[in-house]
Amino acid sequence: MTEPRTPFRMAGFAAQAMRLYGEANALASQGLAEEAEAAYRRTLAVNPRFAEAHNNLGNVLRALGRAAEAAAEYREALACGLDHPLVHYNLASALKELGEGQGAERSFRRALAMQPDYAEAFNNFANLLREQDRLVDSATAYRRALALRPDWDEAHDNLSGALYLLHEDGRTAEAERFARLWLRDHPDHPVARHIGTAIAGLSTESRASDDYVRQVFDHFAGEFDRKLAELGYRAPALLAEAVAAEAPPPAAALSVLDAGCGTGLCAPFLRAYARTLVGVDLSSGMLEHARARNLYDSLAEAELGAFLAAHPGGFDLIVAADVLCYFGALDAVLALGAAALRPGGRLAFTVERLDPATEPYRVSPHGRYAHAEDYVRATLAAAGLTITRLDRATLRFESGDPVEGLVVTAARA
Ligand SMILES: C[S@@+](CC[C@H](N)C(=O)[O-])C[C@H]1O[C@@H](n2cnc3c(N)ncnc32)[C@H](O)[C@@H]1O
Repeated sequence: MTEPRTPFRMAGFAAQAMRLYGEANALASQGLAEEAEAAYRRTLAVNPRFAEAHNNLGNVLRALGRAAEAAAEYREALACGLDHPLVHYNLASALKELGEGQGAERSFRRALAMQPDYAEAFNNFANLLREQDRLVDSATAYRRALALRPDWDEAHDNLSGALYLLHEDGRTAEAERFARLWLRDHPDHPVARHIGTAIAGLSTESRASDDYVRQVFDHFAGEFDRKLAELGYRAPALLAEAVAAEAPPPAAALSVLDAGCGTGLCAPFLRAYARTLVGVDLSSGMLEHARARNLYDSLAEAELGAFLAAHPGGFDLIVAADVLCYFGALDAVLALGAAALRPGGRLAFTVERLDPATEPYRVSPHGRYAHAEDYVRATLAAAGLTITRLDRATLRFESGDPVEGLVVTAARA
C-alpha cells in the first residue's frame, strides 16, 4: 500500500525533484543529452507535474532527433501550466521539424502574440513560411526579426535566401522592393550590401567584400562538402582534368597554390604535383576543414589579391576552383596571379559563364558573378597570360538547372 503524501513528505519530494532537475540541467548544458534525458525522467518520476522538467526534456529529445516525443513533452509542459512563449516556440519548432505546418504556425503565432519582441520566433516562423513557399510573408517575418536584432547574421542570410527564391520565382519587382527596404534598414551589413544591391540591381562592387565572403563561408563551412556534392559540384574534377592535360606529369616537384582553397576539395589532386602545397582563403571556418585533410604544407587566412601581391614569382601552379566568381572585375586579380607565377608557370581556374554576354560581368541574385568569355580572354591577355585551354562545362546544378562555366588554363610566358 502506498503511504499518503503528508505536507512534510511533499516538501521532501519537491526538494528531491529540484535536486534531480538541477542535475539534469547540468548534464544537458554539458551536451550529454542521453544522460540528461534519464535524469529528467527521474525528476518526472518524483514529480510528474514539473512543467519546466517537461519542457527541458523536450529540448534534449529534440537534440536527440526525437521531435515527436519532444512535442509531446512541450504539450505536457503547457498542460502543467507553463503557458510561456518559450514553450510555444519550442512546440512550434518541433512541429515544424515533424512537417506539421499548421500546428507549427499556430504555436509560432501564439508565442509571438505573447512576446512580440521574440526575434528567434520571427526568424524560425519565417523559415517555416519559406519552406511553404510563402515567400513574401517569410521575407516580412525575417525583417521583423532583423528589426529586433539588426546584427543577427543568420537572419540576414535567411532573408537573402528568401529574396533569392522570390527573384527566381519571377517575382522580381517584389524581390527588389524587399531588397531596397533591407538596404535602407541595414546599409552596413555585408550580406545586405552584397545580396541586397545585387537583387535591387544597384551593385557597384567590383568584387564581394571580405566581410561578406567570410560571413557566408564561415557559416557554410560545416555543410560545404555535403551540400556541394548534392549539387553535383565538379569544378575540382574539371580542373584536375585540365591540369593533367596541360601541366607536366605529377612528380611532386612544383610549388602549388590552391587559391581560395575552401575546405580543400582540390588538395587530393594537387598534392600529386606539389613539392609544397599552400592554401589561402579568407574564411577561417573553411580553412579549419582544409587543415583537417592533412594535405597542405601551409594554410594562410588572407585575401587572395593581397596574398598574391605578397608572393611575386612564388608558384609554378596556381589553381582557383569556383573562387573568381566572387570577383567581378578580373583585371587586378589576374595580373596579381600572373605576377605570382614563375616564368612558365600555370594558372587554372573556373568561372561561371555569362550568357548572353551583354556586359563583361554581372552579379547574380545569389551573390556570385558570371563572366563573359570574351572578357576572360581579354583580361588574361592583358595580364600577360597565354590561354592554353578554355572549355565550356557544367560546374554544378542549382535548383536542378546546370550552371554553365568556363574551365581555363593559362601560362606565363
Ligand atoms: C565556392 S568556395 C570554393 C572552395 C574550393 N576552391 C573548392 O573548389 O571547393 C569559394 C572559396 O573562395 C574563398 N574566397 C572568395 N573570395 C576570396 C578572396 N577574395 N580571398 C580569399 N578567399 C576567397 C571563399 O572563402 C571560399 O572558401
